[in-house]
Amino acid sequence: MDNELLRDHQIQNIMDLKLDNKVAIILAASKGLGKAIATALSAEGAKVIIGSRDKTELDKTAAEIHHLTGNEVVAIPVDVSKGEEIEAFIKKAADTFGRVDILLNNAGGPPFDKFENFDDAQWQKAFELNLLSMARTSRLVLPHLRKTGSGRIINIISGSVKSVLANSVLSTSMRMGVVGMAKMMADEFGPYNITVNNIAPGLILTDRIKHTLPKDADPEKAMQEKAKSIPLGRIGKPEELAALAVFLASEQASYISGTTIQVDGGANRAIF
Ligand SMILES: NC(=O)c1ccc[n+]([C@@H]2O[C@H](COP(=O)([O-])OP(=O)(O)OC[C@H]3O[C@@H](n4cnc5c(N)ncnc54)[C@H](OP(=O)(O)O)[C@@H]3O)[C@@H](O)[C@H]2O)c1
Repeated sequence: MDNELLRDHQIQNIMDLKLDNKVAIILAASKGLGKAIATALSAEGAKVIIGSRDKTELDKTAAEIHHLTGNEVVAIPVDVSKGEEIEAFIKKAADTFGRVDILLNNAGGPPFDKFENFDDAQWQKAFELNLLSMARTSRLVLPHLRKTGSGRIINIISGSVKSVLANSVLSTSMRMGVVGMAKMMADEFGPYNITVNNIAPGLILTDRIKHTLPKDADPEKAMQEKAKSIPLGRIGKPEELAALAVFLASEQASYISGTTIQVDGGANRAIF
């Protein structure tokens, strides 16, 4: 079909995600899921601003992404669990390109253990890292997203909001808070044409997952063991999750809001 015909059928550029020149903030992005999402958004033409704590690692990642995609990548160090740091980060990020279209909320995960082993200080830390951080960034980015008229907020949470994952009480409790918050935000921000969605990873191969393998086990075998209960028979790759984040950030996802979507190879057996 020629372009005119495609235009008549309103299906032109169906694969063009229209992310060229959009500005995306991706938090906790020096490695793992955040890095994969930043890379994928940059590959689709977005200007990306990445944040995490270790400046050396972050600068290295920014250089790597820029080298891969040729697009602008800005690294600004930030600890997302600290209010003042987030405020300074968002201000700097918003000034960098004069606009923000996409906010990808992400953070390191809280420790795994049984409920009875966590004290108040650990609960407070998990709250600041995995729930309050996302409330803060979203509040501070909101005025910028309102200006663009088509903002996107995407939160990385965990498949544990859909089915029980042993020892994940801190993560699950905070992620459930994000699910509720995102639902409220989708409701309130709809009139500004801002969509708000969550991505719930199952088992995706990053350093966080490598660190949970038994210390004395052969890593390959340990991973095969973990993959046994996953219908697709393997652990996911960060870029497989990044593909969904990029789609949710795109214009094509303009009518998807208030949802939590799993990327887990079918691991969650719940029907609803
Ligand atoms: N991978 C999975 O299968 C999976 C499954 C379920 C849920 N999740 C959740 O998804 C999120 C990302 O996981 P991942 O697997 O990508 O982890 P990862 O490979 O360990 O990467 C974590 C990233 O977060 C950054 N970070 C950690 N604490 C931070 C803080 N306070 N402020 C700013 N940045 C911070 C780290 O950089 P710095 O240390 O330099 O700050 C790093 O860039 C986590 O919340 C995890 O619990 C992952």
